[in-house]
Amino acid sequence: MTSSARPLLNRRLAEFGTTIFAEMSALATSTGSINLGQGFPDTDGPEEIREAAVRALREGRGNQYPPGPGIPELRTAVAAHHRRRYGLSYDPDTEVLVTAGATEAIAASLLALLEPGDEVIALEPYYDSYAACIAMAGGRRVPVTLRPHHEDTARFRLDLDELRDAVTDRTRLLLVNTPHNPTGTVLTREELRAIADLAVERDLLVVTDEVYEHLVFDDAEHLPLASFPGMRERTVTIGSAGKTFSFTGWKVGWVTAAPGLVTAVRSAKQFLTYVASGPFQYAVAEALALPDTYFAAFRADMQAKRDLLASGLAQAGFEVFRPAGTYFVTTDIRPLGETDGFAFCRALPERAGVVAIPNAVFYDHREAGAPFVRFAFCKRTEVLEEAVQRLKALAD
Ligand SMILES: Cc1ncc(COP(=O)(O)O)c(C=O)c1O
Repeated sequence: MTSSARPLLNRRLAEFGTTIFAEMSALATSTGSINLGQGFPDTDGPEEIREAAVRALREGRGNQYPPGPGIPELRTAVAAHHRRRYGLSYDPDTEVLVTAGATEAIAASLLALLEPGDEVIALEPYYDSYAACIAMAGGRRVPVTLRPHHEDTARFRLDLDELRDAVTDRTRLLLVNTPHNPTGTVLTREELRAIADLAVERDLLVVTDEVYEHLVFDDAEHLPLASFPGMRERTVTIGSAGKTFSFTGWKVGWVTAAPGLVTAVRSAKQFLTYVASGPFQYAVAEALALPDTYFAAFRADMQAKRDLLASGLAQAGFEVFRPAGTYFVTTDIRPLGETDGFAFCRALPERAGVVAIPNAVFYDHREAGAPFVRFAFCKRTEVLEEAVQRLKALAD
């Protein structure tokens, strides 16, 4: 312990205390509540993929340091997946990098591509690691707020003029996330085209977090930003096995980008973990080659869960922004006579035995996020049914 008055945590990270997830998960435990706060499934992914990991471990594949860029089998599988689904071709040797989950991919990309003082435009509300990683890299975050609209269906939308106005001479990159956590918005072809046009016009780099690429519902379609004209050479695309295959603890993610960008990201990544998740990389290589029926069944299952929770929340009195993607549903608590998401979420375990997350934690403009609350629906059907039952207490 130092005797100086200087705080131990450096100034860049001082604003990022303990995450709300820790507080809410502790509350869930102490009150016996159903935890719909943090986004992780309560059942494991496909049995054959779990077995593939066991086999790799038993056969001594990946128990020692795997190659820095990731095992060739996984890099090849990522490239084949992108070709099969999107017609995008990446060279597994020079354009794919395996990371310790999407979290490391985000950190390494920002640490690699930013100089201190560079501005990063991010869509607010944003996944909490973005702000911390921009800060660690010495960058300055410039939020562009997604705002609720109530057209045919309630949806959070990007204001393209606001995005355009946020770009300055100091803007280095756009940090995009689609399908979007926490709002459930899937950016449309028009929105993505406008982002792409702006990036090309202002010569910006783009980091796009597409970890929910397989979780899109109804007639929504996930379109990779890298597939738009002029984008392939300036876009770092981030993916993860955690969400698509329901193995969030394995921490296998990846970056796909042009060779120069991959080399830059790898330069930072090698000093973060160097490598991770050896045996799991073999299993994820098999998972990415699963037939289309796996992906369709996964999506249908999650869509049914979305419908169950979304209608339960509406019956309980929330305004529901029916998500087109991800496994989160954002609600507005004002129809319940509430305005402060923090206070509401702190009281909800006592009132209804359910834990949710106040969206304000994902905002710089806290007031813009104040009345919104996020629930995760990646849980067993009986858990969601029980949660819906409990939430009915709010309507009484
Ligand atoms: C938008 C987004 N990006 C990245 C991650 C982290 O992914 P991983 O577990 O692969 O590090 C999450 C997890 O919740 C997320 O929601």
